[in-house]
Amino acid sequence: RTVAVVLAGGTGQRIGLEIPKQLLKIAGKPILEHTLHVFENAPDVDEVILLMTPAYVEDARRIVERAKLGKVTRVLAGGSTRSETTRIAIEAAAAGLGEGEDCNLLFHDAVRPLLSQRVVRECVESLERYQAVDVAIPSSDTVIVTRTHGNDGEFITEVPDRSRLRRGQTPQGFHLSTIRAAYERAAADPFFQATDDCSVVVKYLPHVPVHIVTGDDYNMKVTQPVDVFIADKLFQLASHAAPAQAGEAAYREQLAGKTMVVFGG
Ligand code: CTP
Repeated sequence: RTVAVVLAGGTGQRIGLEIPKQLLKIAGKPILEHTLHVFENAPDVDEVILLMTPAYVEDARRIVERAKLGKVTRVLAGGSTRSETTRIAIEAAAAGLGEGEDCNLLFHDAVRPLLSQRVVRECVESLERYQAVDVAIPSSDTVIVTRTHGNDGEFITEVPDRSRLRRGQTPQGFHLSTIRAAYERAAADPFFQATDDCSVVVKYLPHVPVHIVTGDDYNMKVTQPVDVFIADKLFQLASHAAPAQAGEAAYREQLAGKTMVVFGG
């Protein structure tokens, strides 16, 4: 049994809109609705739990009802940080299980609406063999580590070998028992902080291997204002395709040289 957890508890400070960015409309629908459709259409996903920014839980419920998203069983208020939201989701999923029962949890950022069915399927397949799975892509940019020196600004301290670097995306999948154990240990650490869930397993359950599924460039996270433009363009390019496949189709067309993308003008 696989439960998808859609993390939509943030407020989108970096994009700086009045509403949380997951409610912004792209290609005629809120970003959140596009994301929920991916899981609704995923044959391997049995149930979806949605965690929403507390002040917008009713808006999220309305989206779920209007779009007839039957797999969404619960719309709950998220926490003050992404990790808090994850903890709430873990406990909600655990409450639905009997003694000694386990299931797969797939945590996904609500603001990655171009997730493909291929990636969802490969994550679920990976969890048949492994307790934890991450989705990542190679980094085209060189990644540097820096340190700030007083008022002189930032300086390089290290340039890690790019061939071994990956950019982490979501979903991140776990056996419920594994991610729950990792967060229980994290709760005892007064210095705990994390921006994703795999890092919690890597840090607090170091013996657990985290398998990698290759993600997609278009599984982008709408984070900065420019990302709204890029995501919108990706949806437009494939407006003939089902929303869940839009990114994939757009990408394939571009590779085949059928579509010319003109920026500006
Ligand atoms: N998220 C969450 N609960 C929080 C904070 C974030 O569920 N308390 C979710 C966001 O809604 C988003 C995902 O985690 O889908 C990735 O986080 P990010 O892009 O950082 O979203 P925000 O926190 O909303 O953005 P910002 O950091 O710019 O404020």
